[in-house]
Amino acid sequence: MVTASRIRNLKGKRKISMLTAYDYLTARILEAAAIDIILVGDSMGTTILGYPTTLPVTMDIMVAHVAAVKRGAPKTMVVADMPFLSYGVSEEEAIRNAGRFLKEAGADAVKLEGGKDIAPLVEKMVSLGIPVMGHIGLRPQQVLKSGYQVAGRTEADIENLSEDAKALEKAGIFSLVLEGTTEEASRLITDMVSIPTIGIGAGRYTDGQVLVITDMLGYEPDHQYKHNKTYANLYNTIFSAVVQYKEEVEMGLFPSEEHVFHQK
Ligand code: KIV
Repeated sequence: MVTASRIRNLKGKRKISMLTAYDYLTARILEAAAIDIILVGDSMGTTILGYPTTLPVTMDIMVAHVAAVKRGAPKTMVVADMPFLSYGVSEEEAIRNAGRFLKEAGADAVKLEGGKDIAPLVEKMVSLGIPVMGHIGLRPQQVLKSGYQVAGRTEADIENLSEDAKALEKAGIFSLVLEGTTEEASRLITDMVSIPTIGIGAGRYTDGQVLVITDMLGYEPDHQYKHNKTYANLYNTIFSAVVQYKEEVEMGLFPSEEHVFHQK
């Protein structure tokens, strides 16, 4: 079992690697590659479910995918992302939902978007034994209010982010995602807090990095993001395989003798 305190203790020793995953097969590969943390992000709404935003993702969808990921990566820390409005309505409902991730899906921790506003809820969760990862900066669940905007462009904004980070640290989070944040802001926050920061589009000085698996594997060549690095081109690989299969079926080349069963 990988505990939150083990991840927390990596700060200052070595950088932390985190990737998203949404299914059993991918989780198996990430565990084999010894990735430190697998995040079952609500980004699954846009990346694999085809929604325009993350907002339609429900608890039931998340629980099913977190459970699949945990089956594929039983020895890796799996963090379950709390979807839109699964924690904003009441403290009771939020804790029950976080509990579902740990009890039904086998998650090791939950992640919540938000700053000082959610610090009292985070404190309560942590006191109950639920490890919490924070998430500030660009917050995709706020898209209808503010769009997707890089955070930390001004002094006032950096001050605001710093206050959020401090409040969450005090509430007991074991790590903090900084998304879409200027390098200046994320460096300052990383130096300021005792817990590891994990950046996506937050520059070079965070304690760890996270990427969305479908972005880094190149599933959507039309979607290029400044923060992302494409380590593979799975769109082309899968497309070529499917085209070849179709041609071989049409030409009667597949199946061949090696794929055929014969009567005894
Ligand atoms: O949902 C997600 O994948 C995330 C990461 C981008 C941090 O929150």
